[in-house]
Amino acid sequence: MNHVSDVPEQPPPFVQFGPEVLTGAWETVPVSAVKEFTESWNDLPADGHLPTDVPYRFRRYSTFRLAAGGLERLPHTAFFQDADVNAVNGGVHRMFAPLEDSVAAGPVLSAIVTTLYERIPGSTAGIDTCGVHQIRVVATADAEGNPAPEGVHQDGHHYVGQVLIQRDNVRGAESILYDLERRPVHRAVLREPFETILLDDRRVLHGVTPVTPAADSRAGVRDMLLVDFFPGPHR
Ligand SMILES: [Fe+2]
Repeated sequence: MNHVSDVPEQPPPFVQFGPEVLTGAWETVPVSAVKEFTESWNDLPADGHLPTDVPYRFRRYSTFRLAAGGLERLPHTAFFQDADVNAVNGGVHRMFAPLEDSVAAGPVLSAIVTTLYERIPGSTAGIDTCGVHQIRVVATADAEGNPAPEGVHQDGHHYVGQVLIQRDNVRGAESILYDLERRPVHRAVLREPFETILLDDRRVLHGVTPVTPAADSRAGVRDMLLVDFFPGPHR
């Protein structure tokens, strides 16, 4: 008897897929709604929790229950990570501005979250809640933007989707995944809007290299949508 085969096989701890997966999920959504969704990154308040004089990160955050009929927005709350997963901001309840109603209730966010959920690389048992972050990192010739100043880390969730919304005039921002011994297992630069990495946050760590402006540019921008999946307290 081969005991090795008795062990249930786990899927790889991450998947990466091209933009066609998400764009295919909203084929019936008007182009104007997709445009409104992506342009909402132009109106993100500065992240007040960064130790820099000039803000380089801008964001909004809301949480939702994953209901049969779609996303149910939950009361606005602070974003919290334990100090052992975030050495820079861990242990602090960070209050960010909520998502705009048009984004939170719109068809594009719902399609993205549903599609990510369907492709989660592992068991979805008990996972009924998600946190949605809209994040813009700006790099200038004077100051690079650091999407993850905490370095190589875990987010403290079950699964995390990292969706590129746009990168404009930037260099860098290489996404790197690591096994639990901190050995790199995957490297990728997300370039096409809606290219996505979806990872099991308990089985891999992640980091991203700093963002600098492209050659001959004064400033560059990288917009991301992050979706955290986890079991909520409301059952
Ligand atoms: Fe992270």
